[in-house]
Amino acid sequence: MSTNSPDYRDSGLEFPADFTFGSATASYQIEGAANEDGRGPSIWDTFSHTPGLVVNGDTGDVADDHYHRLEEDLDLMKSLNLQAYRFSIAWPRIQPTGRGEANQAGLDFYSRLIDGLIARGIKPVATLYHWDLPQALEDEGGWRVRSTAEAFGDYATIVGTAFGDRVHTWTTLNEPWCSAYLGYGSGAHAPGLASPEGALKAVHHLNLAHGLAIMALREVATNDPEYSITLNLHVVRPASDSAADADAVRQIDALGNRAFTGPLLHGAYPADLFEDTKDVTDWSFVFSNDLHIINQPIDVLGVNYYATNLVRVWDGVSPRESADGHRDALGSPWPGADRVEFVQQPGPYTDMGWNIEPSGLEELLLAVRDEFPAQPLMITENGAAFDDVVSYDAVSSDGVSSDVGGSAAGAAGARVAAVHDAPRIDYLRRHLTAAHRALSQGVDLRGYFVWSLMDNFEWSYGYSKRFGIVRVDYETLERLPKDSAHWYSRLAATNRLP
Ligand code: NOJ
Repeated sequence: MSTNSPDYRDSGLEFPADFTFGSATASYQIEGAANEDGRGPSIWDTFSHTPGLVVNGDTGDVADDHYHRLEEDLDLMKSLNLQAYRFSIAWPRIQPTGRGEANQAGLDFYSRLIDGLIARGIKPVATLYHWDLPQALEDEGGWRVRSTAEAFGDYATIVGTAFGDRVHTWTTLNEPWCSAYLGYGSGAHAPGLASPEGALKAVHHLNLAHGLAIMALREVATNDPEYSITLNLHVVRPASDSAADADAVRQIDALGNRAFTGPLLHGAYPADLFEDTKDVTDWSFVFSNDLHIINQPIDVLGVNYYATNLVRVWDGVSPRESADGHRDALGSPWPGADRVEFVQQPGPYTDMGWNIEPSGLEELLLAVRDEFPAQPLMITENGAAFDDVVSYDAVSSDGVSSDVGGSAAGAAGARVAAVHDAPRIDYLRRHLTAAHRALSQGVDLRGYFVWSLMDNFEWSYGYSKRFGIVRVDYETLERLPKDSAHWYSRLAATNRLP
């Protein structure tokens, strides 16, 4: 092992033997093959093909070409010792228009994926919806209308019938906050609409879709799977100890967190959410039986964590700060919270401009545990984009690279490509240490999924941001495990933090 290789010294931190280490991806971000085998268009095809909406005009047409490189990617996961793989199923591959007969070629692809995982001893963790809504459903109103939630229940029956003998964990939705508020509120994400009331309708219909899907899956699954949903819960802190700033925190917590956890886990929307948004909507789209449907027991709550938020009340006069990662030209992703300002936080930052603060993860896990003591948790995403550099390391006469770990052997005099992404290893190590602190305080945390297995289409940022532990060369589509991948594979093999 060379001096510049990832630091494999044992930190002494050991995770429980049954703690799961995996990695995560999403269909539109990696698959490509956008027009193949009967796949219908999704809102992200429409959005990314609209000039000016995605950096560099990037689209998911090819992405990582995972659809055609399935076996290679499965072998890659195996070589990294992954214990679980969190992927999403593209609804428009299964039902090209979001309704009606299943498309067999779409089912076949995910069947091969699931079988390939199981054959390699990797648990399949399947997400039903990671943002690629069939465009035909958007044309009928998308998540603003109840019929989309009902169609989602039918889609869940189809995939549950097809894979309900093999999927280990079902996740209904990924980050419905983003689907609702970025899709229909700010317009930063597909379908790119800016309507405060549309965003709140989407919140409710996504919650309803979750409940309908869990009910549908329970009807057809035969292998006693685990059921879950993944939320991007916000760690929100006040910029001062004033009562006004405390109220700004309360508003963001209501919209960003309790609008989901309330109905999902308590069976009710918070009263202050209705009060805060009464000028936006009367919430008459919530029907009397809906909360009963939404409030399904789940086996594990998925939590995605990247950074923290600092807020204060805006004076209404000075230029308003917007440090919550959304572009100023767009609408607000926070319906009704017109007087809340997001304040730039101290660094360091990742390439997304998000502040690096591992203690926020511990704070979040403890807060969720305190509110839902009986609910097992899983970190379904954590990771960082950095501007990685590929270096070409010399190979010494014994065939071992002078810069890379022993895996990079080659002929003497040759050079091997490597990505020495020490900042990503540092990010992961510090967040896993924070997760471990939560575990030792009794949080029932079951696993951790690094975002992401490989560089991919980062939504409105296109391919300009790299989150992978494996580099993807977008010219050749070659995969190159970064130092962080070698580091993570050691962790996944031993359950000890290297
Ligand atoms: C959340 C989303 O689930 C994922 O699709 C996205 O790429 C990462 N966070 C990073 O922004």
